[in-house]
Parts: sequence; C-alpha cells; structure tokens
Amino acid sequence: HEPVVAIAGVTGAVGAEFIATMDRRGFPVRKLKALASARSAGKTIDFRGERIVIEELTEKSFEGVDIALFSAGGGTSRKFSPAAVKAGAVVIDNSSAFRMDPNVPLVIPEINAGRIREHKGIISVPNCSAITALVPLWPIHKANRIKRVILSTYQAASGGGAAVMQELVESTRAYLDGRPFAPKAIQHPYAFNLFSHNTAIDPETGYNDEETKVIKETRKIFEDDKIAIGVTCVRVPVLRAHCEAITFECENPITEADVRAILSKAPGVKIVDDRAKNYFPMPIDASGQDDVLVGRIRKDLSDSSGHSISMFVSADQLLKGAALNAIQIAELLPQRAMV
Ligand code: A2P
Repeated sequence: HEPVVAIAGVTGAVGAEFIATMDRRGFPVRKLKALASARSAGKTIDFRGERIVIEELTEKSFEGVDIALFSAGGGTSRKFSPAAVKAGAVVIDNSSAFRMDPNVPLVIPEINAGRIREHKGIISVPNCSAITALVPLWPIHKANRIKRVILSTYQAASGGGAAVMQELVESTRAYLDGRPFAPKAIQHPYAFNLFSHNTAIDPETGYNDEETKVIKETRKIFEDDKIAIGVTCVRVPVLRAHCEAITFECENPITEADVRAILSKAPGVKIVDDRAKNYFPMPIDASGQDDVLVGRIRKDLSDSSGHSISMFVSADQLLKGAALNAIQIAELLPQRAMV
C-alpha cells in the first residue's frame, strides 16, 4: 500500500521540486492529486509517465489523501489545511502559517526527526534561511552550546516563488537590451541590484518578518529560548540558492579544527573550503544539491577569547530550504510505515 499524495501549489517553484524530489528518491506514490488555483485548473502535468489534470484546490480536494504537501502561501495553508487534516491526511506545510503553533512540530530531520511522531495532523517545514543556517549549526551546538549567532543572508529569487524568479530573468534581459522594465512581482528593480528582504518591517524593532522568523524558529527547533541571534536578510539577484555569512559564539572555547571535525561528519553538510584555490560555497554549486555547503571556516578575529567562529554557507532554497526537507519528513511518517 503506497500513499495517495496531494500537492497544493503544484504549479509553483516548490511544487515542481516536490515532484522532482519524489522521483529522484523513489518516493512511492499510489496516486498523485495535483492542486493549484482556479487559474491552473484543467492544465496538465506529467508524473511518472502519466498525464495528470490539475484541479482547483478546495475543501473537498483531500478525500482519500494520505499526505498533503502544501506550498501555496500562508493564507492558502491556513484556509485549506484544516479540511485536509479532517479528511485524514497528514499535512506537511512549507508556509509560515503554523510554524510557531506549539501543537505543530517544526522539523529539520537532521535535527529533530523525533518530533514528527508528535504531530496532530500538521508538520511545518521551517523558513529556508533558518534551515540553511541550522543544519550546520546544530551539530556544533550539540558539541559546544552556541550562545550567540550573528547572521547575514544573501537570498535567491526562488524564495519569492516562480514569478520572482521569472522577473529576475526578464528584468536582467531588459537591462542588457537597454529596455525599461517596470517591477511587477517584487517592489524594487532586481537586475544588477539587491535589496533588504521584501517582508514587512516591524516599526518598533526595525526587523523584517524574515529576520524575526529566523530568530523564533531557531529557538523552537533547538529548544533553546536563550540563544541570542542578530540577523540581516537581503535578497540578491541569484536564482535559487541562498548564501549566509554566519558568526557564532560558543559557551566553551572552540577552534577552526573542532568545527571542521564536527562538520565533516554532519548529516546534510558538505565542506567546500579550498583556501589555495579561493573556492568556497557558491549558489551555482549549491543549486540542485541536497547538502548545505559550508566553507570560509575560520576564527572570528573580532573575538580574542577563542569562543567564536565565522563561516559562509550555501544551500538550494527550493530543495533543502523547502521541497527536500518536506519529502524527508514524508519519508519518516509513521503513517507510511503502517500502510
Ligand atoms: P497557480 O499557478 O494556479 O496560481 P510560487 O510559490 O512559485 O509563487 O507558487 C505558488 C503556488 O501556489 C502555485 O502553484 C499557485 O497556483 C498556488 N496558489 C496560489 N494561490 C492559490 C490559491 N488561492 N489556491 C490554490 N493554489 C494557489
């Protein structure tokens, strides 16, 4: 017995990667329900040699569905997940809708796979910037508690969805052709530019929502309310892999060699750190890869006490930052072992 899988947001950037990731990993699917907005209803997608007609996502979409993968925005998740749960499906949600709900496990399998068992119908996939930082930080934190993190992101267009990726390509082409281009999918000119993350800014703190998510989600996933985090999130003109410059301070002294030793054995991490060739993690190498690439591992020279290390990481936002993390969760569902 193989599960019936529904994908809500099948026409989106993450939707396409759900399908590619299930294929690549041989995830068994008895039947796929392809769901999107009314705009896409009637169009088709190809899945394992079959032509599947896309249906409009409604409350009735989930009859007989075992696993519902959602990536159609927070509002859509909020509106339709309850119906999916009621129909008996397990929802794996890529949006921010339920992440901070105490009844919803927030799971990165390399860190807290055990939490999956506690779900009450919904499991959330963390924010992509959080996943990218936490996969390598977790094994360090376990060995030598991280007290404080300063992090800056260089985030790809893919986090904004297919329309933002397309806008990056089209606005770049217009720029090169010397044609004017009016931004549509994103508020700022994107070609040969970068800008502070396009989520709302809290007028009190000056932090945008993306930054706040990184702080709150890290504390929930690490189960450590005291970890101090300062973060700046920026969108850069890269298509699909995020980068982050991370400096962290541990409770006990830590060396570059310690970090290398820990990360060389860490699941989901690949060290790319060639000083002689000046070769370090790049979005072009991270794109299409499952691992978080980690390099520039070095002593933080602003810290004389030997507790602080800096590094630079890159991970595919559409894979480990979204679809892959969701499929890894689906692979671990006890429901699947039972069917
Ligand atoms: P559609 O293509 O029909 O608009 P992305 O993250 O790449 O922007 O993709 C968003 C996904 O979410 C798309 O598959 C989109 O479908 C889907 N979507 C957006 N709004 C809704 C909605 N109200 N109901 C169902 N699907 C939606």
